[in-house]
Amino acid sequence: MEKKKVLVLPGDGIGVDVCNAALPIFDVLALPIELSFGDIGWSCWENEGTPIPVRTWDQISKSDAVLLGAITSKGKDEAEKALPKELQNKNWQYVSPVIQLRQQLGLFANIRPAHYINGDREPFDLCVIRENTEGLYAGFDFKGIPENLDNFLTHPNIGVYGPKEVAWSVRLQTKHGLSRLFKKAFIYAEDHGLKRVTFADKPNVMRESGKFAKDIFFDIASNYPDITADIHNVDAVALWLVKKPHEFGVIVAENMFGDILSDLVAGVMGGLGVAPSANIGSDIAYFEPVHGSAPKMAGKGKANPCALFMSIALMLDYLGYPDHASRLEVAVKHVIKSRVALSYDFGGDATTVEVAKAIIDAYRNQTEGRTVAILTIGDELLSGKSINTNLSDLSQIAEHKGYSVVRQIVCSDSVGDIEQTISKLAGDVDYLVLSGGLGPTSDDRTRFAVAEVAKESLVFNDCSWRHIESRLTNFNVAVDESNRVQAMFPETAAILSNPIGTANGFSLNIYGTKVLVLPGPPAEAKYLLDKYLAEIVNASNSTNSYKWSIMGVSEGEVGTFLKQRSRNMI
Ligand code: NAI
Ligand code: MG
Repeated sequence: MEKKKVLVLPGDGIGVDVCNAALPIFDVLALPIELSFGDIGWSCWENEGTPIPVRTWDQISKSDAVLLGAITSKGKDEAEKALPKELQNKNWQYVSPVIQLRQQLGLFANIRPAHYINGDREPFDLCVIRENTEGLYAGFDFKGIPENLDNFLTHPNIGVYGPKEVAWSVRLQTKHGLSRLFKKAFIYAEDHGLKRVTFADKPNVMRESGKFAKDIFFDIASNYPDITADIHNVDAVALWLVKKPHEFGVIVAENMFGDILSDLVAGVMGGLGVAPSANIGSDIAYFEPVHGSAPKMAGKGKANPCALFMSIALMLDYLGYPDHASRLEVAVKHVIKSRVALSYDFGGDATTVEVAKAIIDAYRNQTEGRTVAILTIGDELLSGKSINTNLSDLSQIAEHKGYSVVRQIVCSDSVGDIEQTISKLAGDVDYLVLSGGLGPTSDDRTRFAVAEVAKESLVFNDCSWRHIESRLTNFNVAVDESNRVQAMFPETAAILSNPIGTANGFSLNIYGTKVLVLPGPPAEAKYLLDKYLAEIVNASNSTNSYKWSIMGVSEGEVGTFLKQRSRNMI
């Protein structure tokens, strides 16, 4: 198999620190990816008079993807001073390498996903897609108004100091640029199961360019009838992103508005230490953390490498390894949530390398990243009228397959209760197993609660209905209209067929957690979990377990004896 070529450009400052710490993940990934390394950034400018040497462009042209650490950029005067003496006063211009990469490689879409990681808030899963090549950053930025334009650019303030004491920028919007941006936004929404695309702009103030963009947006939206398309003022979107990020799917915006919103979502997600980005065009893409080179922190082992790991995950997805990508994301979230190793920005004192090692370990040791919560549902379980054998049986099945059961919960039949519990756990565990409440009676509310949290409607499934009819007929039970509800499933759910009972189960993803919804009868719940919860192979920390019955000796004595034995064995 031909290897994918990834060019790593660590760049400046903490870009180098996080790359050094994170790159060992590629040994563990063991994918057909070949890494090569190149130079970019301020140090190239200082030594060679260009932040992207010709040899680096050449390396880029031979790569499938580029992984960038971070780059230092400075103002015009500082850039001139930093040049080697022989290159000074020759009018060499420092042009930000990230802008050069985006423009020259045609990377028109800057993709900034933001997922819920931790904290007491409703989980969210959204993505800001920013236009990268035009808009207010197109480069039409001028000082002074030339004479031939002074009749065109009129404003009462200009006359106060005259047309030379004026600076002005142009927001360039092209049909080409906007069409490909909006298409990318809808395709991204489709590929990632997001149901809403919001265009954040300012059409009430920028009336011509705003209307121009709006018409193109809705024209493209008409090809995606299953996705809600709406347009809102960018300032209102900023407010709602802070208050209710879970209400958004994809947010698409021109260059400058997108720049601001994407940093805002980085903050909502947990800060620069965790926020990744991708710059995507037609042939090549580059991936980088949102943060810069943080020069004051460079070389001190303080930088949080999570954002680079998240960027590597985006790159793995782009290169065609979505499973590895999501496992890596889970590993990063696990390290943050379990507080195994936290850098200073998350309130810990772990070094860059310590955090990176913990993430690589969590990735390697799949059981650490494979957590399960079991939620059993039913008023009869809470009242004690039925013995809740499912809780222990389902836990045992999960543990036996190599998972860690981290929560066991019993919940009433109320939709509100079930919804709240799912919302709390979704995004926090890898698998959430629900049992109970899939029957035909009015107290069976589980499927409604799951659909509500997933923001999906329930749709009727013919095949499941035929299964229900034939089961009931075989058992000489009259088929009742009320049974139809048992053939209703959330739109994106996969059906878990249940040959030993009437109700099929189903599974779907909610905020990165795989939710398995099983019928309550113990034999059926156990059967389906055993069948559909994938076994973890390669669990590197697998341990042998022994079960002893002891008589005549106390547990304490046995414990002390075993401790001594295990010390001697080491
Ligand atoms: P910055 O992102 O480098 O740092 C801002 C602050 O965020 C830092 O002081 C630090 O407290 C925190 N921070 C950033 N990354 C962190 C991490 N991984 N872990 C923990 N804390 C982190 O932005 P700043 O200071 O505005 O710019 C510094 C240099 O980086 C400038 O030369 C700027 O031009 C450049 N830059 C480069 C970018 C890129 O390479 N794409 C993006 C942003 C800035
Ligand atoms: Mg920015």
